[in-house]
Amino acid sequence: MQVEKHLEPFRLSLEKLQDVSARLRKDMLRGLGKHAHHRAAVKMLPTFVRATPDGTEKGDFLALDLGGTNFRVLHVRVLEEEQRVLKMDSQICAIPQEIMLGTGEKLFDHIAACLAEFLDSQKLRGQTLPLGFTFSFPCEQKEIDKSILIRWTKGFNCSGVEGEDVVRLLKEAIHRRGDYDIGSVAMVNDTVGTMMSCGYRDQSCEIGMIIGTGTNACYMEEMKNVKRVEGEDGRMCINTEWGGFGDDGSLKDILTEFDEEVDKTSINPGVHTFEKMISGMYLGEIVRLVLLKLTEEKLLFKGCPSEALLTPGSFETKFISEIEDGLENAKKILTKLALDWDLVDACVARLVCDTVSSRSARLCAAALATIANRIRTNRGLDHLKTTVGVDGTVYRKHPNFSDELQAAVRLLAPKCDVSFLISEDGSGKGAAMVTAVAQRLSCILVLNHSKLYKPVTEL
Ligand code: BGC
Repeated sequence: MQVEKHLEPFRLSLEKLQDVSARLRKDMLRGLGKHAHHRAAVKMLPTFVRATPDGTEKGDFLALDLGGTNFRVLHVRVLEEEQRVLKMDSQICAIPQEIMLGTGEKLFDHIAACLAEFLDSQKLRGQTLPLGFTFSFPCEQKEIDKSILIRWTKGFNCSGVEGEDVVRLLKEAIHRRGDYDIGSVAMVNDTVGTMMSCGYRDQSCEIGMIIGTGTNACYMEEMKNVKRVEGEDGRMCINTEWGGFGDDGSLKDILTEFDEEVDKTSINPGVHTFEKMISGMYLGEIVRLVLLKLTEEKLLFKGCPSEALLTPGSFETKFISEIEDGLENAKKILTKLALDWDLVDACVARLVCDTVSSRSARLCAAALATIANRIRTNRGLDHLKTTVGVDGTVYRKHPNFSDELQAAVRLLAPKCDVSFLISEDGSGKGAAMVTAVAQRLSCILVLNHSKLYKPVTEL
């Protein structure tokens, strides 16, 4: 069938996935290395989080969550007796496109203003609560409260932030206002927040994974393998930034013409290749380009694309989940896009969605299996039982993404028994957990961690 010719490049065999996993394994090693790190596409960033919760943490915290579709402010209470993390309240603030693409100063002023509004609504102004800041972009963490943005990803591109300490920019914006203050700050990637929030419920949770607007994972690595940080004992959470896998051309053989187009028209061409094949920010656009190609080849919609189909970004990623959920939805969405469809078209559109989302799930599985296999061999185990804390709209909302991912992980990491725990508000509660654990360990982690776990000066 002619349609199949265009879909075939999306279908990755088990052997191909094993091959992708082997490439990622090598790239992870490069990222962990002291010298090779600078050239590594997979950054493997030390997070300075070296303990998961032990259930004795407690107190009130603020949490900020920036990096998905919205910006959120939360007030979180960690209850020691009940070993529970309570979200007291939260507020969502929209970040308008002009702020996402404007100056860093405007962005942080906006964040500080949202926080002020929230503190007022909660009657918390005047208290200086510790703050967990979930900032879901690749950062070179120098200390728990010093974190340099390597580069923006997803839809953000604010000037004057790359290469700067994000905690300093936040504090400066708060000081510019001068009408409130915050306590100590802990910076956290959303994967780490997710792992930590699940870690409170399940102490074998040692991997955090996000498949939402962007994609990424973190896991507990042996300190002795983290060559860029001094110290040999124990473990440290590593933010893999697997979204950058392929940025050095290593995935060229599996990129389709549609992936290349998505990359070319994105705000950050050449960056986050793996993410662009997987995450919610891009899946809808891949499907749109495939549908358009099939229409141009007169294989769909009688060869007539609608205005909507011709418009970049018009095919939302959530349509994929809806269309795969049932043919009736497919018909509704094609009508909404003003396409002249018949039953065969609706079935083909569904097949396209299924093909693109399956590839995403299987690629994620290959990456996750690489991490699970690594943890198992690190520990010299024949068999590993571990838990992954997961979050993200693609994983949560798509009707069979999680099943497909889990089935592929079983094939690609047969000696690992991997359970999945959906994180409830990981980036909010998890950030508070990291702050709480940092406070618990304050004598060894926050105050003296630079003595114990000093970044090796390799620059
Ligand atoms: C960022 C990661 C983040 C992921 C999921 C990626 O674009 O680089 O830091 O964890 O998105 O939000």
